[in-house]
Amino acid sequence: MGGDGIGPEVVAEGLKVIAAVGVEMDTVEYDLGGERYMRDGTILPDEIVEEWRGLDALYAGAVGSPGVPPGIIERGLLLKMRFDLDLFINLRPFATPNHNFVVIRENTEGTYAGEGGFLRKNTPEEVATQGSVNTRHGVERACRYAFELAMTRNKHVTLIHKTNVLTFSGDLWDRTFNEVAAEYPEVDTWYNHIDAACIYMVEGPERYDVIVTDNLFGDIITDLAGAISGGIGLAPTANLHPGKMSMFEPVHGSAPDIVGTGKANPIAAILSGAMMLDHLGAIEAADRIRAACAAPETLTGSTSEIGDAVVGRL
Ligand code: IPM
Ligand code: MN
Repeated sequence: MGGDGIGPEVVAEGLKVIAAVGVEMDTVEYDLGGERYMRDGTILPDEIVEEWRGLDALYAGAVGSPGVPPGIIERGLLLKMRFDLDLFINLRPFATPNHNFVVIRENTEGTYAGEGGFLRKNTPEEVATQGSVNTRHGVERACRYAFELAMTRNKHVTLIHKTNVLTFSGDLWDRTFNEVAAEYPEVDTWYNHIDAACIYMVEGPERYDVIVTDNLFGDIITDLAGAISGGIGLAPTANLHPGKMSMFEPVHGSAPDIVGTGKANPIAAILSGAMMLDHLGAIEAADRIRAACAAPETLTGSTSEIGDAVVGRL
């Protein structure tokens, strides 16, 4: 699913790299996103979600068009996909010579759940509420995933939240995190408030190995993490339901301002393709792609030239 803007351009490079590494896949293409919505009103029909349940993975570019009001494609396509397919882990690794940490963002709850509404809309007495939904089940599976991952890495997990103010959801997160931590005595733990984490992320990101956090804090901190580790053009994402159909996309958006200019960096999409190969069990091929994307500052040129350079290194 190339999507909108630069999405199709970067996905084409990712598919080129996957072909070059020798992994053969059966593919089916989906034309969805803001452009499709403007053409015929289609966002994400339930029948397509049902079809996706039978696939192994969805490889996506980016969705969103300037002509579509905010929320329609985000909620109707991206979030519907995450929620309906229960893609409960949003995994965002940041790896450069100077950074090596991953963010586990809970991907189905929190303020993203859509709880809330209006009272007296468009009157001077208007009220808008936007709740945060946090379940023991949802928080626990995110924490457990983080600790399992930490066991394969440097055995260090940081919880990021705002327990000093969000005393209900923060309390549930804190208790659940510590209960899961007790099952992993070898793993060291740390806690940061989200505001302080923004400072540490900029001034000392080497303190982090695995971070686990709620949906909205994870959204924000991963843009910051992208910015300090080479730019958002390099940051990949996996939206996972381990063992089931999962979705792989760059952290960046559709960047309509640079569409067709060849300025889009395809590395984030290529690395998202590598995460997809991990999910499909082609881990050696995925590692080869990651190695070929090392020192990304030396991969220069247009979108397709960068893709060709990665293929050349392979
Ligand atoms: C992301 C994006 C999405 C999010 C938007 C487009 C709905 O910013 O994947 O980080 O907020 O999760
Ligand atoms: Mn985001």
